[in-house]
Amino acid sequence: MLIEAINIEHRFGSRAVLSGFSHAFSTGSTAIVGPSGSGKTTLLCILGGLLRPSSGELRVDGHAVSSKWSDRVAWVPQSPVASMRRTALENIVQGGLNRPSSRRVAIEDAASIAADLALNDVMRRPARLLSGGELQRVAIGRALNTRLPVICADEPTGQLDARTTRQVLDCMFTALRNHDRLVLIATHDEEVWKRCDSVIEMSSQ
Ligand SMILES: Nc1ncnc2c1ncn2[C@@H]1O[C@H](COP(=O)(O)OP(=O)(O)O)[C@@H](O)[C@H]1O
Ligand SMILES: [Mg+2]
Repeated sequence: MLIEAINIEHRFGSRAVLSGFSHAFSTGSTAIVGPSGSGKTTLLCILGGLLRPSSGELRVDGHAVSSKWSDRVAWVPQSPVASMRRTALENIVQGGLNRPSSRRVAIEDAASIAADLALNDVMRRPARLLSGGELQRVAIGRALNTRLPVICADEPTGQLDARTTRQVLDCMFTALRNHDRLVLIATHDEEVWKRCDSVIEMSSQ
């Protein structure tokens, strides 16, 4: 898969956040780095189809994106939200229920994704009893189980301490190696961007 941003401009009122941004993103992981306020979240929302740029074009595999583009993108939020009464595994299963395949497949896939994310020991535990790092792995698992071709994550380690960050990233990149996805990660965390296949740097304007 190839996502091409072509001469993207975005302004909020008179504030220009992106001007003349062009880049081609291919399968694998790309970190979008830059200081706070440099437009990382804005760019991620445009690439993920949640925000229409003021001007410029977004193409996927050579075609201009339609309004349905955002349906093909899974998001990992900065603060993971899970159904707290459901178990870790059930939360990951939920990610797979939007697929045309059967519930049984979503459950089987969830179990193997939970294993990739080193959640075996806690997968039957209600989400409310999980640590922040475990919850973040559940959120990553849910995004993987959608099987959507694109995953966007905005500061996925923003709420975690250094040790938990390393553990979550070890699991996430192990899991990603088993799944062919285009992953876009907005981050200012060196631990994150040094593990990505490529890095683009936003400059403050
Ligand atoms: N909805 C909005 N309305 C007005 N200004 C916004 C909005 N969203 C972001 N901004 C401004 O755009 C700039 C870039 O924000 P953002 O994309 O969130 O940067 P980053 O994620 O790199 O911190 C900031 O100055 C921010 O205040
Ligand atoms: Mg941001």
